[in-house]
Amino acid sequence: MESGQPVPRCEGIGIMIDDMDNQAARLRELTEQAQKRRDDEARGLVPPRPVPPRTPLGKHARRKVPYTLAVTSGKGGVGKTLVSVNLAVRFAQRGLKVLIIDADLGLANIDVVLGVTPKYNMADVLSGNQSLDDVVVQGPEGIYILPAASGVAELSDLSEEQRASLMDHLDNWNADIDVVIVDTGAGISPNVRYFILSVEKILVVATPDPSSITDAYALMKVMYKNHRLNNFDLVVNQVTGLKEAKRVYKAISDVSSRFLNIGLQFAGYIPKDDLLQQAVREQQLVSLAYPEAESSIAFTRLSQWLVETWQRQERDNNGQATFFWGRLLDEEDPPSTSEPESS
Ligand SMILES: Nc1ncnc2c1ncn2[C@@H]1O[C@H](COP(=O)(O)OP(=O)(O)OP(=O)(O)O)[C@@H](O)[C@H]1O
Ligand SMILES: [Mg+2]
Repeated sequence: MESGQPVPRCEGIGIMIDDMDNQAARLRELTEQAQKRRDDEARGLVPPRPVPPRTPLGKHARRKVPYTLAVTSGKGGVGKTLVSVNLAVRFAQRGLKVLIIDADLGLANIDVVLGVTPKYNMADVLSGNQSLDDVVVQGPEGIYILPAASGVAELSDLSEEQRASLMDHLDNWNADIDVVIVDTGAGISPNVRYFILSVEKILVVATPDPSSITDAYALMKVMYKNHRLNNFDLVVNQVTGLKEAKRVYKAISDVSSRFLNIGLQFAGYIPKDDLLQQAVREQQLVSLAYPEAESSIAFTRLSQWLVETWQRQERDNNGQATFFWGRLLDEEDPPSTSEPESS
């Protein structure tokens, strides 16, 4: 894995590069406009914009924050986006209100997978020019999507101010969200670590590919050594069945418990499925287009496992959420070096 670097991809990259200059210029322009507006407000030249009321997220009276889940991986292309969106659909079908954040900031693609064409994206929120209500779009089963901006270099490495601003917007967004799923980029760049740190549950996706196993371990190691995170859940994707999934789980958990004090739970597996690939080609979601497909059934199982885990956690905590977006603000800024140390 190229530490700290976006994982190169071929699909659509040409179009993204064509657009990159325009989008970067637009982001700069939006940021300058927002700064001018703030300066003008400070000088009393324009009236201050009303501050939205700080309404607790989540419709359950006792729970003040939504469940937050990051879907991440060391290696790229292992299935994070498909796990994120298919899980989102399954949660929505259970009556939960779901927000997916496309946090692959340099190379966003959830909008492509879900077939939505957002007018605005995260850059517009960060520049202060649009509210989340304007930027968030709805996808299948009513899931909400916060699109990232493909190819905007500035977003590939958010500043501390931008991170705090994003957190603020999410904290203040009065949308009654039950579950937030963050689809991170691959690797261990500062952005990826920031998003992982901002959630309560970290779902690491790995495949039987040896480099995916090594990179999943490297990701957990960095999060443990730099941020003291020691609790992860593993989804093994693209396997022939439970036996192969357990083999991959054992390979990673053996080494992580031997060299690091990390608890890794087995969250389940998604079989390698031709129907999933067919759905991708048809720009559909397998769990909607082919509900009987093996992978669709596996997504139902995984969503069920997560809901049960959350219910157990609620019971254990007597209804109180233990983690929230705001905890990030107490974290030190992650170190800029992202090279995993060898075990
Ligand atoms: N269970 C599966 N069965 C068959 N193919 C799969 C499965 N999961 C993923 N794939 C294949 O892997 C491809 C990449 O999946 P996806 O885009 O979700 O990965 P990703 O981890 O989000 O990638 P990136 O790191 O580039 O964001 C899919 O387009 C699909 O062809
Ligand atoms: Mg992806």
